[in-house]
Amino acid sequence: MTTKRNLMIFALGALAIASCDPVPSFDKDVIDATDIGAELRAAKPGFILGAATSHHQIEGGLTNDWTVFEQGTNDEGEPNIKNGDDSSVAADSWNRWPEDIASLETLGANGYRLGISWSRLQPTPGSWDQAAADRYRDMFDALNARGIRPMVTIYHFTLPLWVSDEGGWEWDGAPAAFEDFAQRAGAAFGDQIDYWVTLNEPNVLAIQAYSFGSWAPGVKDDMERATNVYAGQLRGHALASVALRANDTVDADGDGKATQIGIAHHVRLPQPASSYALDTALSAATNDYINDVVPRAITTGRLFLEVPGTITIDEDIPALKDSCDWMGINYYERTYIRADLSVSTLSTQYQPEGAEVTDLGWEVSPESLYHLLMRMDRYGLPLYITENGLADDDDDQRPSYLRAHLYAVLRAIQDGADVRGYLHWALIDNFEWAEGYEGLFGLFSIDFGGDLARVPRQASVDAFTDITGPLNAE
Ligand code: FCB
Repeated sequence: MTTKRNLMIFALGALAIASCDPVPSFDKDVIDATDIGAELRAAKPGFILGAATSHHQIEGGLTNDWTVFEQGTNDEGEPNIKNGDDSSVAADSWNRWPEDIASLETLGANGYRLGISWSRLQPTPGSWDQAAADRYRDMFDALNARGIRPMVTIYHFTLPLWVSDEGGWEWDGAPAAFEDFAQRAGAAFGDQIDYWVTLNEPNVLAIQAYSFGSWAPGVKDDMERATNVYAGQLRGHALASVALRANDTVDADGDGKATQIGIAHHVRLPQPASSYALDTALSAATNDYINDVVPRAITTGRLFLEVPGTITIDEDIPALKDSCDWMGINYYERTYIRADLSVSTLSTQYQPEGAEVTDLGWEVSPESLYHLLMRMDRYGLPLYITENGLADDDDDQRPSYLRAHLYAVLRAIQDGADVRGYLHWALIDNFEWAEGYEGLFGLFSIDFGGDLARVPRQASVDAFTDITGPLNAE
């Protein structure tokens, strides 16, 4: 078994070497001298520049598989969430959403990616909470009235308990349950919403929850289950996109298109730790599993997922082909891959020594964003950056990070990539999953123990408005 697995890994390594692209290096002085807003406006008229959040991380007052997980402990007896934090109040956006919209106005944003909560809207099978739907409608009205395009995520890591009790995405009824939710969401909000995100990062959810065990439901070292969960989400997406198109037939923004569907796809740039064949091969296998499964599925209908020697899924799902009108790109970091056949993922990831890292230790690499955009553009779908940002509580890195990553986007557009928008993660500080309130990503900070006011991280807000000003100029 091990020999067969290693042979497959070597073959993948050869492919990796054949498909290497150069990664450019950006000059800080050039970035500083560039009027990014004006150049974006010239290069891509109608460019969307705004921010992103997700329902569970900001709303508070939810009950779902994550709220259960947040109360639990891991094998070492530690709380599942750092410092025993939980999302019970979070940023209280369920009540304070008008302050979030005011924050978007301060930024001069013309787009906002936010989530709706499946568990809130459908707390039991077949039910629908109309009062909750009405509140979301108020939010969407307020955004549309201000010229801030809402982009709505319908699944962002949390499941209603009636779905997780059946096994979550491992349950063979989950895709149909998700289809039903998508159908209701399309009918309830279609007159206000054109841009839908069906899934957020199906790859990350699968690995964090079923291999690292650090996210709900906390399963460790099971790449077979992770891969089934990855596939289950994509099966759900295929059904959900048909349901959304059938139920959202109203063109809310008047551009002639009623339904524009995407997946917020997490990409990262895996680099082999060395030229040792196993490192190269595993870097290639990781590259395919992380970066290519989703775009291949939505452009060809072929659902192909493989963990060498552990599991292969290879199916044609006709409804997956052309299920997206665009592709979302969530980009945070580049990682180095070192082979380690003793772990279920077959490799471990690390940051190079001396790299600039964020508060959570993630490497800052805007060049990798450029590289990945050029690579993802080859799939032929319009691209929106649906997340990009950093944990940086004291705000000494975010302003330059923001400029450098938007410069990377500009360069990719100038070099031919069809990138149509950038939504910074995050609008406000929020509940950062297993990190609790330690990973602070907001353009606006929040004192979670205190009054929850949205306070601008001024240097970043200034860097942002320096770009939105010329971008939005008449
Ligand atoms: C992404 C998630 C998002 C947020 C950022 C920091 O993986 O989609 O919810 O936690 O990371």
